[in-house]
Amino acid sequence: MNSRFFKHGAAVLALLAGTAWAQPFPARPITWIVPFAAGGPTDALARSIADKVSREVGQPIIIDNSAGAGGTIGAAKAARAPADGYTMLVGHMGYMGAAPALYKKLSYDPVNDFAPVFRFPDTPLVLMVRKEHPAKDIKALVEFGKANPEKMFISNAGVGSTSHLIAALFANSAGMKVSLVPYKGAGPALIDVIGGQVDGMFDQTNTALPQINEGKVKALAVTSKVRLPQLKDVPTLAETVLPGFEASTWYGIYAPKGTPQAALDKMQAAYLKVMTDKAFTDKMAEQAIQMLPREDYTGAALGKLTVSEVARWKAVAAKTNISLD
Ligand code: MLT
Repeated sequence: MNSRFFKHGAAVLALLAGTAWAQPFPARPITWIVPFAAGGPTDALARSIADKVSREVGQPIIIDNSAGAGGTIGAAKAARAPADGYTMLVGHMGYMGAAPALYKKLSYDPVNDFAPVFRFPDTPLVLMVRKEHPAKDIKALVEFGKANPEKMFISNAGVGSTSHLIAALFANSAGMKVSLVPYKGAGPALIDVIGGQVDGMFDQTNTALPQINEGKVKALAVTSKVRLPQLKDVPTLAETVLPGFEASTWYGIYAPKGTPQAALDKMQAAYLKVMTDKAFTDKMAEQAIQMLPREDYTGAALGKLTVSEVARWKAVAAKTNISLD
């Protein structure tokens, strides 16, 4: 059999490989990396949205909890994943916005190593303390903190997580020295607030509200601009101890840079369809998750947000010198 046949044969095989086997995306289950322990707000929000998007795209979305270092371990893993659409990152304000300002040696670049796919709704945070804590309100907590430097133990999901960033900014702005206690996620961090091992924490509303409603912790303040309908009697930080203070966690799905545009478009289209499901968005709103204008949910909008947030946190870190490592 002459060489010409082999040359053409190989070309035909490659062609066959390109066409017949290049099945439309997705042709197998997709993995979303959640860089925090299971059971926390990021995990809960990601699983609820993954469940709906997977039905739209016709393939399961598997959640891989790769926790540690405030989310930067999971983000680095996603940055190195194959750019084939089958591995994506559940990104958020901490490790995709603030981390470049806080970590000298970050092994990934939130802007240049990723392709933004779509953005989740935002989640405000609640400052909660253990049930027996003597502080009856936010003013009393700040007085307690000022009178007992480094004797107030605030749990969080690790250096650079939002529960850490907001706690550091709160303490810094209120003139308190607190002890920040890192965990692998807000889930385990909250368990120790409920158990009384630590004094308090900032947690996102989707996982905080059930514990507050069951009286397992005391809510002292929220980080949203205005009070939350779910917590009418809980003041904002802005109306009490920190005028102008407002914060919520933004989230988005990212794919490794170089992922085929067709895969990005398919996932974005599925998500935008899911976000027209009123029963689903009402359920999220009950958890005080803040819906956004439709145009803010796109990959393009998430890309712009990532660029501006990396810049904003560099300014915050410089102004408040909350360097973390
Ligand atoms: C955070 O604090 O950044 C995250 O909420 C942590 C988590 O979801 O576990």
